[in-house]
Amino acid sequence: MIKINSIIFYVIIVLGLILINIRLSGGSELIIKRPRANLTHVPKDLPLTTTTLDLSQNNISELQTSDILSLSKLRALVMSYNRLRYLDIGVFKFNTELEYLDLSHNELRVISCHPTANFKHLDLSFNAFDALPICKEFGNMSQLKFLGLSGSQVQSASVQPIARLNITEVLLVLGDTYGEREDPQCLQHINTGALHVVFPEKREFRFTLDVSVSTVNSLELSNIKCGLENSNCSYFLSALLKLRKSPGLSSLTLNNIKTTWNSFLDILQSVWHAPVKYFSISNMTLQGQVEFRNFNYSGTSLKALSIHQVVSEVYSLPQRYIYGIFSNMNIQNFTVSGTRMLHMLCPLKVSPFLYLDFTDNLLTDMVFEDCRNLIKLKTLSLQKNQLKKLENIILMSAEMKSLQKLDISQNFLQYSEKENLCSWTESLLVLNLSSNMLADCVFKCLPPKVKVLDLHNNRIMSIPKEITYLQALQELNVASNSLVDLPGCGAFGSLSVLVIEHNSVSHPSVDFFQSCQKIRSLAAGNNPFRCTCELREFIKNIGHVSGEVVEGWPNSYRCDSPEGAKGTPLQDFRMSPLSCDIVLLIVTIGATLLVLVAIMAFLWLYFDLPWYLRMVCQWTQTRHRARNIPEEELQRKLQFHAFVSYSRHDSTWVKNELLPNLEKDGIRVCLHERNFIPGKSIMENIIHSIEKSYKSIFVLSPHFIQSEWCHYELYFAHHNLFHEGSDNLILILLEPIPQYSIPSNYHKLKSLMAQRTYLEWPMENSKHRLFWANLRATINVKLVSQAETTCHIQR
Ligand SMILES: *[C@@H]1O[C@H](CO)[C@@H](O)[C@H](O)[C@H]1NC(C)=O
Ligand SMILES: *[C@@H]1O[C@H](CO)[C@@H](O)[C@H](O)[C@H]1NC(C)=O
Repeated sequence: MIKINSIIFYVIIVLGLILINIRLSGGSELIIKRPRANLTHVPKDLPLTTTTLDLSQNNISELQTSDILSLSKLRALVMSYNRLRYLDIGVFKFNTELEYLDLSHNELRVISCHPTANFKHLDLSFNAFDALPICKEFGNMSQLKFLGLSGSQVQSASVQPIARLNITEVLLVLGDTYGEREDPQCLQHINTGALHVVFPEKREFRFTLDVSVSTVNSLELSNIKCGLENSNCSYFLSALLKLRKSPGLSSLTLNNIKTTWNSFLDILQSVWHAPVKYFSISNMTLQGQVEFRNFNYSGTSLKALSIHQVVSEVYSLPQRYIYGIFSNMNIQNFTVSGTRMLHMLCPLKVSPFLYLDFTDNLLTDMVFEDCRNLIKLKTLSLQKNQLKKLENIILMSAEMKSLQKLDISQNFLQYSEKENLCSWTESLLVLNLSSNMLADCVFKCLPPKVKVLDLHNNRIMSIPKEITYLQALQELNVASNSLVDLPGCGAFGSLSVLVIEHNSVSHPSVDFFQSCQKIRSLAAGNNPFRCTCELREFIKNIGHVSGEVVEGWPNSYRCDSPEGAKGTPLQDFRMSPLSCDIVLLIVTIGATLLVLVAIMAFLWLYFDLPWYLRMVCQWTQTRHRARNIPEEELQRKLQFHAFVSYSRHDSTWVKNELLPNLEKDGIRVCLHERNFIPGKSIMENIIHSIEKSYKSIFVLSPHFIQSEWCHYELYFAHHNLFHEGSDNLILILLEPIPQYSIPSNYHKLKSLMAQRTYLEWPMENSKHRLFWANLRATINVKLVSQAETTCHIQR
């Protein structure tokens, strides 16, 4: 049972693998890279469908059929920088697709031949082979484009098998012991367009190898050490001399040369008469003194000379002699970079130079001073030198009538606009002033027809109003300065590309979009945008310019302030329209106020709000006052909470409304009908009642006005008020009393009415509860004496 189970399990696994295989084998790439992994063997866990395998820079010393047998899709294998010692080409017999094999920089000594795949790229260079590792079978590799070889014995016979192939590029690395038994002609059998020969690094060039392979179009020679220790570089010079036999040779490159100044000039002179068009030297170390002699410029094919990275180990040189040789060369392109060259002279007669590149030297503003012989020059690069005064460069350019492109970036240039004529050459179209120390005033003098102007990484804070009108300017780069705003295009009518990243633009003016109608591309990212209302218009405009023209949008456009918005992409920045529009804001506030007023008015009229307000107001006052009255005093004198004075006509209301509502809370009310003491005069009773009561309530109505007694009561009560210093009057306006109906001698009543310090009896039932509550609160104090006293009076 278990067995059957596991068999089914394996079948499923195998089927799965097959399916995966089928799915992946649709010509897809599978690149496996394991460089610098300290591997000592080809890993066993490689996917079967690997197409490219990179195992470079490991410690693998063996390569066997079984290592790569299963990688049937393998097309490229890179095992450079390992420790392979032995190669059997037969190990690849199952890798039928393999076309790229790099085994350079190993320790291979021996190769076993085997009919093999059709390599396109086979690199066996930088190994320890003695004889060249060329098998008979290589002759069949009809597709071979690159062949890298190394060996110490280079014999014609060993090269023979590949003589019929047309290889694009051959690299031949000569072993350290090369040269003992040389066969000078051996390279003549190679049929290649580009040949690169690497000579043994440590040895003086004393070889007779003929590198003038007839089919070669591009020749590169590395590791040349000659002319030192009193030898005269004759071996190398004669190798160069032989190049005259290869008319197809167009480009010659020398790498890693160590020689003397004299030998260098000999080499230069020799190449001058070879069929070479492009001559390039890099990494050269020069020693020794210079002997003067004439340089013969005549009859050259040379068009371009490039010299890169030169170290001169000589302290005093006849500089003018050397610069003289350079400056009078009759070629079109001349490059000198990465040297410590201090100066360059003006050619003695009109020079054919079209292109001069003196990047990365030590040239000063004195270069080409007053030079009238560079009238053909189109491109000049003085990048990365020691230029300081832009005025001098402007003067220099004045004589270069054809100069179109000038690169003076990465110097120390400053501009001071003294009384200088602005004499830029009119021909200049591209001017690179980047990475200098230029300030705003650089705009006062610029080449009038310039199309591309690079001013990035300078010290510009603003673009002045009064500037040269640059009608043709199309591209302006002012990135990495300190500009606070976008420029208008008033002075740059054709501007189509503006780069203003990394400045201090916080609120860019929107005018930009109106003024710069021709703008196609704007890069304004990485500025400290201040995200406020003003920025909204800019964001809108930038959003309308279609996305592809705004470089870096939206990611490099972020708010820098205010603090809360810091880091927000401008794209996501929102500001409510209300907070940004004053008119809208005022209208909104106005409308809100209007609505509020309407609501108030409505409440006023419909619910009699003032009445409620007065009630609430009185309530609070009473509460406040009640707290301030010394309790003992109240307790000592008073028997009643309130004395009520009213007209006979209002007695129904008093009995049905007032009494029940007050007395239900234990409030003691003194009514003249009920509590007056018989035997006493009415006057006495009234006074007594008022004195014994905490408050006097007067129920005002037109009837009340008619009653004499009531008026007396009011008078006494008010009198009491003055004596005691506390207001103990409560007026209840039962019915409205027209002012005119109050008799003129009732001053007291009139003034009290005028002060409106009365409680109005509301007509609406709904308000009654509040009314009573308010009234009770006014008169409710704690009284000590519980004794019933009379205070009756009858009118
Ligand atoms: C000179 O250099 C320029 C710029 O690199 C290049 O375009 C031109 O083809 C060169 N001319 C020659 C003759 O090498
Ligand atoms: C100006 O020179 C700098 C290098 O100094 C380079 O990066 C930049 O692309 C150049 N600008 C133009 C417009 O060629």
